[in-house]
Amino acid sequence: MAGTADTIAAAKRAAGYRAADMVEDGMVIGLGTGSTVFYAIEALSEKIREGLSVSGVPTSYQTAIRAREYGVPLTTLDDSPILDLAIDGADQIDPQHRMIKGRGAALTREKCVASAAFQFIVVADEAKMVPKLGGVVPVETLPFATTTAMAQLRGLGCRPFIREAVKKDGPVITDNGNFIVDCHFDEIANPGELETAIAVIPGVVESGLFTRLVGNTTIIVGSEKKCSVLTSADVVP
Ligand code: A5P
Repeated sequence: MAGTADTIAAAKRAAGYRAADMVEDGMVIGLGTGSTVFYAIEALSEKIREGLSVSGVPTSYQTAIRAREYGVPLTTLDDSPILDLAIDGADQIDPQHRMIKGRGAALTREKCVASAAFQFIVVADEAKMVPKLGGVVPVETLPFATTTAMAQLRGLGCRPFIREAVKKDGPVITDNGNFIVDCHFDEIANPGELETAIAVIPGVVESGLFTRLVGNTTIIVGSEKKCSVLTSADVVP
């Protein structure tokens, strides 16, 4: 049963705060994008006021703005190419801990930052846990090559649509100056193979399929009453 807005917010808050507890003094961390990560930033802000020393690489303008508001010092992948951990949200997580991300169009920077981290901490409410990945896979594309990329994406069995902006006419423009193509799949038989097949299409910058980071991923699933922490040992074979 779908939760109410309050119970979902409580679950996201629980997961975000638990992730912040994993941050140790002196760490450089990745800061993902989205409503669940924002609770981790809020919790980090409190810890920084109490003396924690930490800096973060933001995965979007939105996160950078929020982190500055909350007093979280920022750095870049240029200055800190290796991160202790990265905290981020997800749209869907399957029993093998593969994910779909990118509702907020930050998927490319999110994948760069997660890949730079020793540990990837994913924070999610329990509604994100699904038996099978499916539906929409967001794909960031170069505007120059979006039409040809869409033809090739169609060949992978999806219906691709350029994502339209809400408070702007025309397409969403990502923080990298690109388009988002939302690819509607009736079924994703093999998420790992699909991630690879999308990645090799010329004009594709990155997809929202995250299937290769499972080994160093920890998932914090928040619910109204508790948090469950899942590691690679909990992956269903
Ligand atoms: C941003 O592009 C996304 O990948 C988000 O991390 C993801 O959609 C999770 O967002 P919420 O925490 O807001 O559900």
